[in-house]
Amino acid sequence: MSFPVDRPRRLRTTPAMRRLVSETRLHPAELILPMFVREGIDGPLPIASMPGVVQHDLDSLRRAAVEAAEAGIGGLNLFGVPAVRDAEGTGATDEHGILNVATALLRAELGDALVIQTDLCLDEFTDHGHCGVLDEHGRVDNDASLARYYDMAVAQARAGAHMVAPSGMMDGQVGVIRDALDSHGFEDVSILAYSAKYASAFYGPFRDAVDSQLSGDRRSYQMDPGNRREGLREATLDAAEGADVLMVKPAMSYLDVLADVSAASELPVWAYQVSGEYAMIEAAAANGWIDRERAIDEALIGIKRAGADAILTYAAVEVATRLR
Ligand code: PBG
Repeated sequence: MSFPVDRPRRLRTTPAMRRLVSETRLHPAELILPMFVREGIDGPLPIASMPGVVQHDLDSLRRAAVEAAEAGIGGLNLFGVPAVRDAEGTGATDEHGILNVATALLRAELGDALVIQTDLCLDEFTDHGHCGVLDEHGRVDNDASLARYYDMAVAQARAGAHMVAPSGMMDGQVGVIRDALDSHGFEDVSILAYSAKYASAFYGPFRDAVDSQLSGDRRSYQMDPGNRREGLREATLDAAEGADVLMVKPAMSYLDVLADVSAASELPVWAYQVSGEYAMIEAAAANGWIDRERAIDEALIGIKRAGADAILTYAAVEVATRLR
């Protein structure tokens, strides 16, 4: 019988040894918490399909944001749920719109303690639920949507966003938003580009979180799940248009795309562990089928190992608190 010369198990012998040779670890500063703020409610409302996640009113948003800052996470990513919607998504560009009001409130409360990001997309504000405006045939009109994004970027920067996060997958959106910001004195407001955003079933619970009005799907603007090279193409375009950070979304089913973009890019690359990815872990854990904390940590480690420099996750505060 011959014995192995190479014995990788030597480096797994004790917890201290395993800790020392660990290649990937999480840090609170690279976790970003998506948050929902809803107009016209009094006190937070739980989101049934996302255990532990709520729609905030302004006051509970403020308190939760302070808690998040104290936990040491890197940023917040805000989504607004307006009381009234219309075809153009007027609430998105109104300084009294819920997302802009919430942004101003958090900026006043937190200053620069963490990075305040705003979702720059129309779907929460339109009565048809699409990410842009529609043409006379009911199709999402790319360039008319860009004009709305231009105004939305200015409104969000005025409200105090450090970083705007265009998630609508319109062609040219990053360039138009960069232009809007620069022509209004907001050269320092950065752009988190949802570069490779796929038309995914894993956004299901998010539709509850924002009371989405969508019927149909987003396949004419979000990417086909089978397309890997195209992820790189979208990321390359966004970088050329002036993105400061690139993002891949969802995360766990798109680790190859994340690895590709991360290897090819000189920009930071982030990933979004989306609502359905979070909900699946919660649901399995609630049934006693997996160990919740281990599953959350393992999922985030996997996303980071694939190339994410930071991760948007609904578990951000919990994980940050545990890490500290
Ligand atoms: C669009 C947007 C969506 C998500 C983030 N931004 C929904 C969609 O594209 O259908 C999904 C996030 C999640 O599922 O956690 N504004």
